Amino acid sequence: MIGFFDSGFGGLTVLRSVVDALSEYDYVYFGDNARVPYGNRSQKIVYQFTLQAVDFLFKKGCPLIIIACNAASAKALRRIQRTFLPAAYPERRVLGVIRPSVEEVVEGACKRIGILATEGVVASRVYITEIEKLTTSVQIYQQACPLLVPIVEAGERNWEGTDMIISKYLSQLFAQNAEIDTILLACTHYPLLQKNFKRLVPPRITILEQGPIVARKLQDYLVRHPEIETKISKGGSRTFFTTDASAKFDRLALTFFGQPIDSKLVSLG
Ligand code: DGL
Repeated sequence: MIGFFDSGFGGLTVLRSVVDALSEYDYVYFGDNARVPYGNRSQKIVYQFTLQAVDFLFKKGCPLIIIACNAASAKALRRIQRTFLPAAYPERRVLGVIRPSVEEVVEGACKRIGILATEGVVASRVYITEIEKLTTSVQIYQQACPLLVPIVEAGERNWEGTDMIISKYLSQLFAQNAEIDTILLACTHYPLLQKNFKRLVPPRITILEQGPIVARKLQDYLVRHPEIETKISKGGSRTFFTTDASAKFDRLALTFFGQPIDSKLVSLG
């Protein structure tokens, strides 16, 4: 099984692309809906919650976990990889969504990137740090979009106010540099607003979403790491766990994942 973790529903947008590209594997998804959002929580708390989720997925038998959440990838992934994994599960792996996204930006033709994310991810400056490790030739601009996660969670994508709010964030981004050529949707929820972004962003700008990027990079990772790939079961199953309100999870999951799911409620103590 490949484990997927997110603070709530958002990671299902990433899982959806991965399942489309790599359908043969078994997948187990864990959404911490009882404690979402992570975006504005402290590093200490996000680390503690993420560690509990990772441990839960490892106990389910996953040799590989994808932290499909920008907030948890920004605030917890490094520490889990450096301290928890070597001590507790040295044979297993945990990957995030930031590194693959950054590689995609750097490998493409992008010269001026606009990063749209939650407040916590923007404040962490993780995208700036990671891009600057790989190149100095991309100019980086960030814009926090705090209202977009609640809008998506409330199912208000088609409300007329949504476009107004996105326009405001975009004008704040373009006020930093009008020549931005690429926008990265660096939050799991924003692909659900892809149609709104397409309407509002000038057509010369490339919009990158993380699902297809993570799917391609994961495919590549599995080819390069047969020692992990051979341990992943291949029965085509999908299992979903949530820490809150299974009925709501199942309803909204249809929007995020694109097909009906049947989730199981768990408590992380
Ligand atoms: N999954 C989070 C992310 O990608 C968004 C929701 C949250 O703040 O927990 O940043």
